[in-house]
Amino acid sequence: MNKATRKAVIAGNWKMNKTPAQAAALIDEMLPLVKDADCEVVICVPYVDLCVAVEKCKGSNVKVGAQNVHFKASGAYTAEISAEMLKEVGCEYVITGHSERRQYFGETDETVNLRTLAGLNAGLKVIVCVGETLTQREQGITAELVALQTKIALKDVTAEQMANVIIAYEPVWAIGTGKTATAEQAQEVCAIVRDVVCELYGKEVAEATTVQYGGSMNAGNADELLGKPDVDGGLIGGASLKAPDFATIVAAASK
Ligand code: 13P
Repeated sequence: MNKATRKAVIAGNWKMNKTPAQAAALIDEMLPLVKDADCEVVICVPYVDLCVAVEKCKGSNVKVGAQNVHFKASGAYTAEISAEMLKEVGCEYVITGHSERRQYFGETDETVNLRTLAGLNAGLKVIVCVGETLTQREQGITAELVALQTKIALKDVTAEQMANVIIAYEPVWAIGTGKTATAEQAQEVCAIVRDVVCELYGKEVAEATTVQYGGSMNAGNADELLGKPDVDGGLIGGASLKAPDFATIVAAASK
């Protein structure tokens, strides 16, 4: 597999952090620090911050994304947001299948698949998250589990649509814990994800698909993680809330 054919993508997942005013301040601080990036830079912000983020990032190299999308076009789905709504406010990316959605809000592989399709069909770029819990890793089922999550998430996604899919491998035990996967562990599972994409869509699509690592990636460990052949970028939680740290990760991915 040839990493040079894929563009690195560093995406911040702000989770439930930052009011619109705080978002504006963080973006103002961040934009000058990442302006020379030689990688794709994305910030996935809370819904209420989307408008201010799009406005602030206009004309810059930073793209804006949401953290989820509903699979129906409209209707009685209280608190949900449609792909059309995201498109209209200027969103280009959306995350689906984050483990916090699976863990705390009952999302399943099937709903993750539907949300992924809704995003893709609306023309959004979708960052699909997969990853095992600590128990699953200890049981030795990481490879099977991640393969299964990936396959179900991509059901009915066409080879053409894969150009708009990023897969983020996020081991649940590494998220927000400060316990990063080793670069070897990240590489091993990102390569498994790519193998699954190859099995489903062939070598050409697999080589072109960006596979990110996420889980306590920070300014100190980004270099090593991103140096691995199948780790094409990062999905960054905590460190994306600190402009200098996020910029250091972006710089690491730009090498
Ligand atoms: P942390 O970087 O805070 O561990 O979060 C990772 C993550 O869940 C990104 O989606």
